[in-house]
Amino acid sequence: MSIARTSDVWWKNTVFYCLDVETFQDGDGDGVGDFQGLTQRIDYLAGLGVGCIWLMPFHPSPNRDDGYDITDYYTVDPRLGDLGDFVEFIRTARDRGIRVIADLVVNHTSEEHPWFQASREDPDGPFGDFYVWRAEKPEDGPTGLIFPGVQEEIWTRDEVRGQYYLHRFYRHQPDLNVATPKVRHEIEKIVGFWLELGLSGFRVDAVNFLIEVDGIEEPGDLDPHGFLGNLRAFLNRRDGQAVMLGEVNLEPEDVRRFFGDEDGDELHMCLNFNLNQAVGLGLVRHDAEPIRRCLEALLPLPPDNQWGNFVRNHDEWSLDKLSESERQEVFDAFGPDPAMQLYGRGLRRRLPTMMDGDQGWIRLAYALTFGLPGAPVLFYGEEIGMAENLEIPGRLSVRAPMQWSSGPNGGFSTAEPDQLRRPVVQGAFGPDEVNVADQQQDEQSLLNWMERLIRARKATPEIGHGDWRPLETATTAVLALRYDWEGRTVLVVHNLAAEPAALQLEPGDTSGWEGLSRIFGEAEYRLDAGRVTVDLQGFGSCWLRVRCANDTIRW
Ligand code: GLC
Repeated sequence: MSIARTSDVWWKNTVFYCLDVETFQDGDGDGVGDFQGLTQRIDYLAGLGVGCIWLMPFHPSPNRDDGYDITDYYTVDPRLGDLGDFVEFIRTARDRGIRVIADLVVNHTSEEHPWFQASREDPDGPFGDFYVWRAEKPEDGPTGLIFPGVQEEIWTRDEVRGQYYLHRFYRHQPDLNVATPKVRHEIEKIVGFWLELGLSGFRVDAVNFLIEVDGIEEPGDLDPHGFLGNLRAFLNRRDGQAVMLGEVNLEPEDVRRFFGDEDGDELHMCLNFNLNQAVGLGLVRHDAEPIRRCLEALLPLPPDNQWGNFVRNHDEWSLDKLSESERQEVFDAFGPDPAMQLYGRGLRRRLPTMMDGDQGWIRLAYALTFGLPGAPVLFYGEEIGMAENLEIPGRLSVRAPMQWSSGPNGGFSTAEPDQLRRPVVQGAFGPDEVNVADQQQDEQSLLNWMERLIRARKATPEIGHGDWRPLETATTAVLALRYDWEGRTVLVVHNLAAEPAALQLEPGDTSGWEGLSRIFGEAEYRLDAGRVTVDLQGFGSCWLRVRCANDTIRW
């Protein structure tokens, strides 16, 4: 694949940036972020080097799950603007070379959605079978609570219809019945609508629950993965370059199925929850072994598919794939107070507080994640080291307003503080100490460092497209990966320990190698008779590109 062709599969080598319109920038002073405000901040995102914005839900919603409970898929929450503002935003982003994807939340709707209201009132009407209804709670239906402690059951009796409906999430989020062709058709219509308005694809919410047929009384002959494959085919008929990035938090071999068969014809990308949790354990232990083990457990992907690698996302930091004792290790180090934990499986903090503001450790976590096989996914504010506000309940603690300056409300809004959609972060990580404006003026800031990291990552397509393998290292504190792509080779080395590490790497085939050029990070390095020596500082990172005799470009 030539470098020009890589843009056909742009998702393999870009940097995603997830944000919530309502907490990013208020453009009209009412305390709620909106599309006008966001549009004013596009140049900031362009300067950072973001390639694709992922918008969290922005549709009308009673907001009982921060917008993941939708009442109308075909418009914008009026507090955030209107469709015109949306199109202005998309148009401006595109002008700056930034694509936009958005959450596709169609496992369930809000209970206030007119479809659900019609479904409960008229079982024989056109929406009667839009949801998963049962006269009695079935014995053989799905099991397990997604929000233990907050959610009590997954079947709730609806007094109006006199039947039970399935809700994998909260009781106010009834699950749509995808065995009904009209529902699948409606999902396609939603996808088609937003593509037409300029989206480049979707972050597909809760994919494994979306395609689930367990609990449906008459699933017919619906093949769940066939349904996902058909949705993908529809999407790419409408727009050949549109992408589906899925939320599938399952074991590695189960996630692999969601990419489709050997052609990779279902989800283009999946968020890599397994690797994310292994990185967490590795960071706490100062040991790369959990990461290496996880990389080995991930099954190879078809050529056009990709992982989305992240450090923190908008939910709790779920550690559900770790063993109980491993999870306890991470809790002890990163969130010992039960008030910092959630659902018995996760943490409701952002990274900088968990790491006590240790800049070396924080930077190592991001450099490491950006150097793993996949495309990086940032959550707004990570680039400046924003913290959480534990006063905000549950998972929402990490969704405080973006910190633009040391001014009132961190520059998020000109409204009175008690009018804000959510309170800003308080204390040592509040806007006085952590904000965009100050960090832009400081060459050594996390923001400027992150900008360099993003630039380096985008200019290293070997990581996004190449074959990779871990290299032996004398100390397990170091993760060393070799990437090969189109006759080019890159070595990526990270030290998870606070102490320096001196490495001798045996990178395998070195024929034609003449030298090494530094892409990113600080280290002493040398190529000598097929051996690579790298001296890393504590928490040090180094990405190196091999120079070959027959290179047509001198790196
Ligand atoms: C996904 C989202 C989460 C939301 C849930 C229900 O897990 O990441 O924020 O609450 O789906 O839609």
